Amino acid sequence: MNAAAMPTRDNPVALPLDLTGRVVFVAGAGSAGPGWSIGRASSVTYARLGAHVCVVDRDAASAEETTALILAEGGIAHTFVGDVSVDADVVRLFAEARACFGEVDVLHHNVGIGKVGGPLETSTEDFDHIHAVNVRSLLLATQQVLPSMVARGSGSILAISSIAAMRYVGYPHLAYSVTKAAVAHFIRMLAQQYAGSGVRANTVVPGLIDTPRIVTTVAKMFSDTNLEDARVARARQVPMGRMGTAWDVAHACAFLASDAAGYITGTELVVDGGITGKFV
Ligand SMILES: NC(=O)c1ccc[n+]([C@@H]2O[C@H](COP(=O)([O-])OP(=O)(O)OC[C@H]3O[C@@H](n4cnc5c(N)ncnc54)[C@H](O)[C@@H]3O)[C@@H](O)[C@H]2O)c1
Repeated sequence: MNAAAMPTRDNPVALPLDLTGRVVFVAGAGSAGPGWSIGRASSVTYARLGAHVCVVDRDAASAEETTALILAEGGIAHTFVGDVSVDADVVRLFAEARACFGEVDVLHHNVGIGKVGGPLETSTEDFDHIHAVNVRSLLLATQQVLPSMVARGSGSILAISSIAAMRYVGYPHLAYSVTKAAVAHFIRMLAQQYAGSGVRANTVVPGLIDTPRIVTTVAKMFSDTNLEDARVARARQVPMGRMGTAWDVAHACAFLASDAAGYITGTELVVDGGITGKFV
């Protein structure tokens, strides 16, 4: 595809998928900054396919922005504010979501935080906190949706990991990488145990994606250059010559959430422009 034919951030390709009436719970549907995060683009994509979207984030203003984008397009969404690593918040968030839209059909576990550093730079407090937000939250949310999915014989759970779970990404990012590996293995285990119950579980593995939050990441990776040069250098690492967009990841999520992926469970869909297949 040439550059002119490439889908832009605001005008993504139309997907031949249908999520009409499905209740999708997106945990981490706001954005670290202005623009399109993965959770925001995914939420908008689900709504465009007819889903009722539970827009969940600890950042109320950012979540409201996602909801407003959906409502402005005539979609269906509601904001729910809370911390998905806190037990009481999770119980409340799902109770509110059920009261608003009914049982959850699709759980999209999108939250992810990290802190640059290896074993000597990572405190046990930071390690525990990153684990709580990235992994423990997945257990809490899964416990909320699974009983009803099993009872109804259908459901799709998808989690966002990272290529950092598979490879060293060029700088020490230990706690993030380890917890993202745990996310992928949690999903593999879940998928096997519930494959016969009609519940599918899959992981989306983004590569270098151009979201608002990478402003801080690229600054750390290429600290001797300005931000724009750093973004260009980051894009050059990718065989396709560009960072991914939040839409690239959202499209993979929408596919796995939908019935089009009805025979797919326990897999990892890597969305990385080819970078993990590279030697240098
Ligand atoms: N951007 C990339 O290059 C990239 C690459 C690989 C994987 N990922 C993963 O994709 C996901 C989304 O990335 P993004 O770049 O769009 O990030 P982002 O930081 O913009 O979005 C994450 C959202 O989650 C929310 N959140 C964080 N902790 C929360 C908590 N405890 N409770 C409720 N909400 C919480 C944040 O407020 C934010 O709105 C993350 O899991 C990230 O690790 C991103």
